[in-house]
Amino acid sequence: MGVAVLSGAQRLVIGGGKRLSGELEVQGAKNSILPLLSGTVLCRGESVLHNCPHLTDADAACRILNCLGCKCKREQNSISINSEQLVNTDVPLELMREMRSSIVFLGAILGRAGHCRLSFPGGCELGPRPIDLHILALRKMGVDIKEEHGYLDCNAPKGIRGAHISLSIPSVGATENIILAAVTAKGNTEINNAAREPEIVDLAAFLNKCGAKITGAGTGTIIIEGVPKLGGAQHSVIPDRIVAATYLCCAAITRGELLLKNADFNHISAVIPAFEQMGCSIYTYGKDRIYINASKNLRAPHKIITSVHPGFPTDAQPMIMALASTLKGTTVFVETIFDNRFRHAQELSRLGAKISVDNRVAVVEGVERLTGADLEATDLRGGAALVTAALFAEGTSTITGISHIDRGYDDLVGNLRKIGADIENK
Ligand code: UD1
Repeated sequence: MGVAVLSGAQRLVIGGGKRLSGELEVQGAKNSILPLLSGTVLCRGESVLHNCPHLTDADAACRILNCLGCKCKREQNSISINSEQLVNTDVPLELMREMRSSIVFLGAILGRAGHCRLSFPGGCELGPRPIDLHILALRKMGVDIKEEHGYLDCNAPKGIRGAHISLSIPSVGATENIILAAVTAKGNTEINNAAREPEIVDLAAFLNKCGAKITGAGTGTIIIEGVPKLGGAQHSVIPDRIVAATYLCCAAITRGELLLKNADFNHISAVIPAFEQMGCSIYTYGKDRIYINASKNLRAPHKIITSVHPGFPTDAQPMIMALASTLKGTTVFVETIFDNRFRHAQELSRLGAKISVDNRVAVVEGVERLTGADLEATDLRGGAALVTAALFAEGTSTITGISHIDRGYDDLVGNLRKIGADIENK
């Protein structure tokens, strides 16, 4: 599968001040598709994943699969993966570097082959991204891990064995890696203080279709009964809750209205109260629709504290900050998950936003006007926050660094244009 250059563009040019109105379909979740693609390494057969967004991170995951010998083919929104033959268990440095989440291949390759060699993922835009919990858990499961010259050399000479693992932090990636390593391990694994994110539930649902025996996904205790092997299965990726939150912010900042289809209200239940406090009308329709109307006078929410699911997602914080910076009143943001998650604040200030940052706390004083400026996206959701703010700012804004945005948004420009935004790739 070739590299998909999604936009091929150097920058986004946005003319602010257009009220957005209309309907959008929410793409499949980036944070689900990556572990799901990794999970197909365990399947001795063909799997087909539906509702797969076109994202550079998904392409990078497919390149890793191809390098392992799994045959990946995309047809529109479906990706088929044939993992009958695994010809390689090492992931080269350049593929590991393409996306930080490639560490989620660790548990899957180990589960399938009992050994692998990956480069250490290192830090990222959001600060240091340690994987000590992944390593600790895998060692408990009988994996011998050597960390040398930036590589992880992993071997389970006697096979992976089930274990009782208590996580000190409910890490999403560590929970995924443990599940992936445990499904075909000898014996049972119990994870305590497991991450409860919807993407964990999605991974367990897919693996169970393939023959795994996982219970408790979505709760703090997950039990995995090891099975000898997995087959392939068909599975549809859950909607992307962060993309849903982004579009809601884009509609709200332009004081517009939006109907989201293929969205899951329950997955963003911690974000809904923020919109309600602002004075937006926000409802769910049927199983998969969310409607927002932000035409009233909006006011700033008092406090946004990020936390693990089902708390307020750290990934939605930047876009809500962009929105809050245009509302009457003061909002205090407390970031509890990552060290360096306010980098967008400085760029928002270029538009005229009033934000002061002290370590993990940011105080936003809403202003009536923002004015267009030249901005640079330095991470995925920070980039989405700049787009959100530029939709409101008077005049023209340009945003560079958009490869960050292509990692997680499928046709952001096309979708925003569909609901009335003045935005183009240049
Ligand atoms: C996932 C998401 C990311 C989201 C994050 C938190 C994917 C591909 N990415 O990232 O979008 O922002 O969850 O919801 O799903 N930690 C350690 N040691 C470890 C592992 C984590 O100290 O071994 C720390 C991290 O540094 C971070 C916190 O735990 O401060 C949360 O990390 P984690 O839940 O693992 O996030 P990711 O899986 O990397």
